Amino acid sequence: MEYKPLNHIVYGGDYNPDQWMETPEIWDEDMRLMKLAHINSATVGIFSWAVLEPEEGVYNFGWLDEIMDKCAANGIGVVLATPSGARPAWLAQKYPEVLQVPESGIRNEYGVRHNHCYNSEIYREKVRNINRLLAQRYKDHPALIMWHISNEYGGECHCETCQHKFREYLKNYFEGDLARLNREWWTGFWAHTVTDWSQLNTPKNRGENHVPSQKTAFRRFVSDCHMDFFKNEIEPLREFTPNIPITTNFMGLFDGIDYSKFSKLVDITSWDNYPFWENEDNVEVATRSAFTYDLYRSFKYGMPFYLMESTPSITNWHPINKIPRAERSEQSSVQAVAYGADSVQYFQWRKGRNGHEKYHGAVVDHVGNENTRVFRSVTHIGEVLEKLSDVAGARSTAKVAIIYDWENKWAVKGYCGYNNVHRDYNEECIKWYKPFYDRGITCDVIAQTDDFTKYDVVIAPYLYLLADGTEDRISEYIKNGGVFVSTYLFATVDREDRVFFGGLPGGKLKDVFGIWAEETDSIPEYLTHIASFEGKDYPVNHICDIIHSNGADVLGEYKTDFYAGSPSVTVNKYGDGFAYYTAFRNDGDFAEDFCKRLIEKHNIEKSVDFDFTTGLTVRRRGDFIFLINFLNQDCEAELDKEYTDVLTGEKVSGKIIIPEYGYRVIK
Ligand code: GLA
Ligand code: ZN
Repeated sequence: MEYKPLNHIVYGGDYNPDQWMETPEIWDEDMRLMKLAHINSATVGIFSWAVLEPEEGVYNFGWLDEIMDKCAANGIGVVLATPSGARPAWLAQKYPEVLQVPESGIRNEYGVRHNHCYNSEIYREKVRNINRLLAQRYKDHPALIMWHISNEYGGECHCETCQHKFREYLKNYFEGDLARLNREWWTGFWAHTVTDWSQLNTPKNRGENHVPSQKTAFRRFVSDCHMDFFKNEIEPLREFTPNIPITTNFMGLFDGIDYSKFSKLVDITSWDNYPFWENEDNVEVATRSAFTYDLYRSFKYGMPFYLMESTPSITNWHPINKIPRAERSEQSSVQAVAYGADSVQYFQWRKGRNGHEKYHGAVVDHVGNENTRVFRSVTHIGEVLEKLSDVAGARSTAKVAIIYDWENKWAVKGYCGYNNVHRDYNEECIKWYKPFYDRGITCDVIAQTDDFTKYDVVIAPYLYLLADGTEDRISEYIKNGGVFVSTYLFATVDREDRVFFGGLPGGKLKDVFGIWAEETDSIPEYLTHIASFEGKDYPVNHICDIIHSNGADVLGEYKTDFYAGSPSVTVNKYGDGFAYYTAFRNDGDFAEDFCKRLIEKHNIEKSVDFDFTTGLTVRRRGDFIFLINFLNQDCEAELDKEYTDVLTGEKVSGKIIIPEYGYRVIK
């Protein structure tokens, strides 16, 4: 179904009234406090199965009826969760097969959460049943605004059922052709040839774990299993509530599930963000969040997403839980909205008296009232978000895309060779995103299978694996005038992790880029190895390709080692476009210097028409421009015309100062 933005920013968070069953008077107090804090939504029921179904087939919805009614009466929309993220003890005791089996092969005992076998038929049936009862009961309830499926899907299972399913999956994938599997997986190596599908197992440390394609296949399989489990969960919801949007909370850049694929199954994407403010450089922290927000926005081609969880103060699971100032929490929430969120939601509404998360930040602390720093901060943010209501639904457009691709990430993490210590796929992608972020140039973050044609520039950091068709699409894109930037180890393997024969980058990309990459060198940290780019020297960090130009212009060369004098950066004119090859990794200024030149050379437009201090976060969303200062200094912007300050209603023009910890929203 089509997600329709509300006319306000959804503001709320995880609400667990079922932990307060013995003191239900607190429920009315919750309503009073929520209204006081300008909260307009509550996510209810995430881990409520044991109260909803205390015994098999015995149901208790009374408390939830009451909460739903109270929320409706108080103007609080309910994001209603399905409870599959944790199960009642009776369920696991009676049906042990619902529990996960780790690599050891020994089934987990009951405990913690998210510990289920996604392929267990019984579990699927039980989940469908409870979900159906929820959907039937609340389908017409005025409080219901959205479904929240389970909680942070993840994990992998190695039970007998899953082994069997994995074999079926492979059989299907290879269309019953075992010889093809052997050929593509190169199983002749170490005598790993399989002669029957039954010889295949899920990869594990105590078994097969040295067949790269098998590892990738298992990643795909696990990811697909989660999606299949999700489809099972939503079946009754679609049946009874076809007009209520469905989401499930993702976990940022989590490896275990191909979110770019999964996001196409939800009506709106959402995720849980817990930035490490004050633990490291705040601009770096902000950049990482921004990158991930742009990824989530790009999943649905520009559609807003929900920030489903964040903390109003601290987490309990960061190694060091430094309290951020209220101003930082406020900036953090506003940043989410700037980058496309239509909600700001917290984990959690009220701190429990005991349990694993009793020291996790919450809107209502153990003291139990509104007279706290955090409550005041949350209230203030609520007021701000009300003033930003018109931002809901607004979109940003991008002319630059960064490729961030799960299949590629799995392959990058999975190979053995070259630099086995420093891979850092995520950090590499964020490094190439930052120069655009710093300049307020909106970037989409896309999969390699997405459409390139709407962008002026596409940057592919560490795009090592090419999916079927990517080779052609990159070539076409460049031929038709696109600017494409690749890095070391570009286009090395195909979908099945087979190295391209005939030289790298694979297939026709050698011609498109006008180079040949012959070898890849890894640089220990104690060696100084230099590459240049347009007259400036950069240390090579960790890895570089040794390349030859076959027609490409050389923009820089190595200065050291036996390949001194060979190219380190090249550009090839191909058709109407340009293909750049940056052959080395540098963790310093290279990406910034390179992108600066790229922006000038190819006239990449800024998303705003004024200058500002480098490092100030500047983001356009629809008619709104957000300026957020995460630096430890005052920042300036030289406005090009008169704007209105959305929060104060004042007119602003000329030079404005955004102080440390400050931000402005103008339009
Ligand atoms: C995750 C979970 C929540 C809670 C928070 C704590 O995002 O979804 O249930 O555990 O972390 O930060
Ligand atoms: Zn299983």
